[in-house]
Amino acid sequence: MHKLLVVMTGLLLALTGRAQTPDRYSIIPKPAKLEAREGQFVVSNTTTVVVPFSNAAVKSIAETFTNQLNTTSGLQVSLRNVNKMALPGNIISFIPVPGLGEEAYRLDIKSNSITVESTSPKGFFYAVQSLMQLLPPTIFRAGPAASRATSATWAVPACRIEDQPRYSYRGLHLDVSRHFMPVSFIKKYIDLIALHKMNIFHWHLTDDQGWRIEIKKYPKLTQVGSKRRHTLIGHYYESDPQQFDGKEYGGYYTQDEIRDVVRYAQSRYVTIIPEIEMPGHALAALTAYPEYGCSGGPYEVTGKWGVFNDIFCPYDKTFEFLQNILTEVMALFPSQYIHIGGDEAPKDSWKKSGFAQDLIKRLKLKDEHELQSYFITRIDKWVTSKGRKIIGWDEILEGGLSPNATVMSWRGTQGGIAAAKQGHDAIMTPGAFLYLDKYQSDPEQEPTAIGGLLTTEQTYSYEPTPQDLPADVQKHIIGAQGNVWTEYIKTPEHVEYMVFPRAAALAEVVWSPREARNWPDFRQRVQLHLPRLAALNVNYSRSLFDVLAETEAAAGTLRVTLKSPVPDTEIRYSVDGSAPSQQSARYESPLSLSATTTVKAVTVKNGELVGEVQQWIFPVSRATGRLVQMASALTYPKNAQAALLTNGRYGSAIGYLADVRGVAGVRSADLSATIDLGAATPVQKVTVGVLKATAGSVLLPRQLEVLVSEDGQTFRSVKTLPLNPAERGRKEVIRHALTFEPVSARYVRIVAQNAGQIPAGMINEGKDATVAVDEITVE
Ligand code: ACM
Repeated sequence: MHKLLVVMTGLLLALTGRAQTPDRYSIIPKPAKLEAREGQFVVSNTTTVVVPFSNAAVKSIAETFTNQLNTTSGLQVSLRNVNKMALPGNIISFIPVPGLGEEAYRLDIKSNSITVESTSPKGFFYAVQSLMQLLPPTIFRAGPAASRATSATWAVPACRIEDQPRYSYRGLHLDVSRHFMPVSFIKKYIDLIALHKMNIFHWHLTDDQGWRIEIKKYPKLTQVGSKRRHTLIGHYYESDPQQFDGKEYGGYYTQDEIRDVVRYAQSRYVTIIPEIEMPGHALAALTAYPEYGCSGGPYEVTGKWGVFNDIFCPYDKTFEFLQNILTEVMALFPSQYIHIGGDEAPKDSWKKSGFAQDLIKRLKLKDEHELQSYFITRIDKWVTSKGRKIIGWDEILEGGLSPNATVMSWRGTQGGIAAAKQGHDAIMTPGAFLYLDKYQSDPEQEPTAIGGLLTTEQTYSYEPTPQDLPADVQKHIIGAQGNVWTEYIKTPEHVEYMVFPRAAALAEVVWSPREARNWPDFRQRVQLHLPRLAALNVNYSRSLFDVLAETEAAAGTLRVTLKSPVPDTEIRYSVDGSAPSQQSARYESPLSLSATTTVKAVTVKNGELVGEVQQWIFPVSRATGRLVQMASALTYPKNAQAALLTNGRYGSAIGYLADVRGVAGVRSADLSATIDLGAATPVQKVTVGVLKATAGSVLLPRQLEVLVSEDGQTFRSVKTLPLNPAERGRKEVIRHALTFEPVSARYVRIVAQNAGQIPAGMINEGKDATVAVDEITVE
């Protein structure tokens, strides 16, 4: 069977000329070099793991591996010191060798032996991660396989691997301020980082919404600063006014817990970089110690998201306070890097502060931006004097970069590139590719996320080092990191859902050689990786397998093409509202819809549902695909087009205000859309959705009106519906059906009357309102 596979793969390679990793070597991240071989090493009760007991770190790695293998397989593989006489049976040898890179390793797997070579424990640790991935996924279980009868063959496919990482910094971040995550989960997260051969856990411990690390010298940081009165419900702009849950929220890590977590991470070769935010994102600290803010308070740990004007004031006593905190932080975390934040620090409170303004004059600074630079530089010098180094978000570049700093580039990659050009190290974490808090699939079908779309494929496509930079600049880009902000992520299960499999894609970006990256190949391997995550009880997302729907509207019909993003899967679907199953109709060719239809679809592989069920309501009517004329130019959202109003897709108000999709709006004027039905047609009902997004100045119209015409010149009104533009509440598209006595008409016009100036008492009062509508149907 395996032989056949090898032959077939060879054939495939010969035919396509493209290197596809055979399924039996589905290691993530993909090793730098893997030479396939025929045959396999079968693990049995006579297998012995041989390791020099004199090397405690390597012995511990071999021992952990052996125990895990025995626990999950039920086999009794023994562990022996290298000095013992050669034993009968097959042998897995851990052999320290000189001269390999610190994280490099070699695996040589033959039918009767496995040789694991490295120069350092780290390399052995990564070798074991690869070895584990060559064994059945059940090796990742916490206990024995549920049923011996169904358990897999405990064999390792023969091959030779020479592997080492592309980047030295391979990070994953977690914000525990917006939502606190228990120690048990932090350990699981570290395990998952290590499994993917990543080596950094960036622990975002402080922010406006909660201070999460015990500081002995300042007990109020956790007594007061770790708690907030309540938390925003739903998406930031979901409600006007915003709604809160009324529940106190809190949590923090004691220093004992932190020491325990640090030890845990060390044993998995993961460095924890703690982040203590300054000068911004400081509300939780200021609530506990208001004397370090410019106004003196009172302040409140906030239950809202965003950026807040109250930041640390650059008093000498504030530096003393922060240095005392960092002293305790550095005692807890042996990491060379200490992250001091530096992002999103509004200068309002410094502008208003006599002290800050005097300081700017005294230091002969140009403005508050240079004062921020002074702030960061002063902390940097102090941290450096303690033998550590700072990392800061890319704002630390503004007003002059502190000399010893490493920059974390999050607002795109320009900050990282600028820093690298100045000779600073840079870590790439651009939002467009590596913010794992974004939607990973159709927002209409996903739990609430911060906004934007970032698919696993997009993460996989990220290239941290711009190839057009000179080599001496490129070398300062030391790696990349995925960021996980938890405003909309309340539980460990939800963190797992957001992070995997996107972090598996990132692991390959930061570990594997650039030229080895190949999306179809990864997509194949990740299907064999997901069962490992399942064995580890990781609540990963199946969005990778979600059916995609493409639509084409033409003259009263909608052609719906369903696509599976993964080859070798079939699509099963329903159009009667029922949940699709393996027995549902099999999708063969595009559907042609002539009336509004609910379509549900799911991908199926080997008789099992593999994606989530996706569902769409496609509005189809006589108006579908017809030409729409607007009386005034569309201004909202950016790139809105009239064709959106008859394209067979409803609009969506999910995500940021800028993410609103499928709607078209006009600012400061009425919206008038005229649809040409092509010929005189009996008409008695028009439906249209109106967007209410008051935080974005999009108000309901004063009224909706339907007019009809035979010739496109003379229109007569057949229906009006008054609405209330002062209505607030949820951001949503509200659909209205306007019915009237049947008439014959070729042209149907919908006029949504603009609210005009935004009334007093509403958000954005006094500004001009926008009126926006979505899909229009005509029956
Ligand atoms: C950030 O996302 N504010 C670093």
